[in-house]
Amino acid sequence: MSALISRAVEVLRGGGLVGLPTETVYGLAADAENELAVRRIFAVKGRPESHPLIVHLGSARLEGWTVDIPDEAGQLAEAFWPGPLTLVLRRGPRALDVVTGGQDTVAIRVPSHPLAREVLRHFGGGLAAPSANRFGKVSPTTAEHVRADLGDDVDLVLDGGPCEVGVESTIVDLTSGAPAILRPGGISSEALEQVLGRPVPVRATSTIRVSGNLPSHYAPRAGVVLCRPDELETKSREPLRAGERVAVLAPADARVPEGAIHLQAPAEVAGLARVLYAELRRVDAQGFDVVLVAIPEREGLGAAVLDRLARAAAPRA
Ligand code: TXA
Ligand code: MG
Repeated sequence: MSALISRAVEVLRGGGLVGLPTETVYGLAADAENELAVRRIFAVKGRPESHPLIVHLGSARLEGWTVDIPDEAGQLAEAFWPGPLTLVLRRGPRALDVVTGGQDTVAIRVPSHPLAREVLRHFGGGLAAPSANRFGKVSPTTAEHVRADLGDDVDLVLDGGPCEVGVESTIVDLTSGAPAILRPGGISSEALEQVLGRPVPVRATSTIRVSGNLPSHYAPRAGVVLCRPDELETKSREPLRAGERVAVLAPADARVPEGAIHLQAPAEVAGLARVLYAELRRVDAQGFDVVLVAIPEREGLGAAVLDRLARAAAPRA
């Protein structure tokens, strides 16, 4: 075990917080069975305690964490774990109220990032980890983002490089009869449907509390305007005329209006997902007032990207 991994395990065993790279976004990890440590996550993030956390495990051995595991959980775990999929299941005794928000379900995920896997293997237990950003802000996809957001409030940040997927995991509820997507993410609905052999719809209005479902979640400071590539010109006219600094996040071949700054984005949606949060952070760091984003197709990772962009563009609370 490397010195850094053993340090991370020591911090976690002592009830501390570790910035942990995963393939989706960086997590703010604590021992899921240490109530005080989990409470610190909420305090540091400024997140209401009623919003439940995902428990990250090193393998699909769920005993103690969940009960009444349906067959479809086994099928999805087999197909997508380790990876960017979170399953909501009936909770077992190891899932604390502070983690589940007092609900009778628990969200579980087995991440694939090699550093996360190594920490989990040596730690042995479960790690509660929300995205390592302050509540309501854009999720971090580099160690630098975590340090910039949380500073000394996090005891150790492991640097695992930029996240490969770039948007959060797909959350699938398996406790309400038919499977349903609570949050689109790194695994597409098409891929889920192929494994389960039946439709897996997105459940928009959920009685379950999913903080990502607040309209203005995932928002940068700058205004976000979604548009088709042929609308870039018309939609940027007004802010440019008002003297605002306008950025356009669009593929290299997009026609960007004069006066706006072109931030080049990959044309292909998985590439866009990978850089999306870093680009939204860049927009704020460089002091833009507005960013126009050329919208991708809804297929595959496009559903997750559109979901995050729609929230970023929603009226601010
Ligand atoms: O990719 C990810 O999922 C990242 C990385 C760090 O693993 N984590 C992440 O955590 O996005 P967070 O806390 O930002 O979002 C977790 C979402 C929240 O919207 C929460 O409400 C939902 O999972 N959730 C947690 N437990 C739940 C449960 N029992 N039922 C329904 N939703 C739940
Ligand atoms: Mg989050």
